[in-house]
Amino acid sequence: MQRLDDLMKLALRSNICYLATSSKEGVPNVVPMGLVEVLDDSTIAVIDVLMHKTRKNLAENDNVALAVTDVNRLAGYQFKGKASVVSTGEMMEWARELVKKKQEKRRELLADRLKSETDPERISKIKKLMEVTYQPKAVVLIKVKEIYRTMWGWDR
Ligand SMILES: Cc1cc2nc3c(=O)[nH]c(=O)nc-3n(C[C@H](O)[C@H](O)[C@H](O)COP(=O)(O)O)c2cc1C
Repeated sequence: MQRLDDLMKLALRSNICYLATSSKEGVPNVVPMGLVEVLDDSTIAVIDVLMHKTRKNLAENDNVALAVTDVNRLAGYQFKGKASVVSTGEMMEWARELVKKKQEKRRELLADRLKSETDPERISKIKKLMEVTYQPKAVVLIKVKEIYRTMWGWDR
């Protein structure tokens, strides 16, 4: 089994990732994911706040791939592994705290944008976005089995 190194962990935590699942018939589905955390050298957690087809696929087929590109470091990775879904216990407490922190940060960023915005339509959109809150429904844990580089950058 390959292990995640520090640059991989940084890429996963600080960029939008793309989670690919597939149905039991092999129909693929890929969606962007921002609530991604690395738990240890071989486990990635993705928090489910809006998943639908992704969860349906996971119930039928636990094979997943997660891709990320770190444009700042010109590095990209694909992680393949097996997923399991946790929807109770300490893991959910941890997910609630993480989502709360990420939402606070997002609100601060939007508030900053609001300061320089003059278009009333955009101001109203940003204000609406600031009101959106997400509640974790589950945590998707990915046990990483294979790692592929999709881009070679400053880390090599
Ligand atoms: C930038 C961005 C980040 C997102 N991050 C998450 C996330 O962390 N968790 C989540 O459940 N949905 C997230 N979504 C929503 C999913 O991409 C997707 O719309 C959702 O899973 C429903 O699609 P599905 O039915 O194919 O699963 C995000 C969407 C965008 C545009």
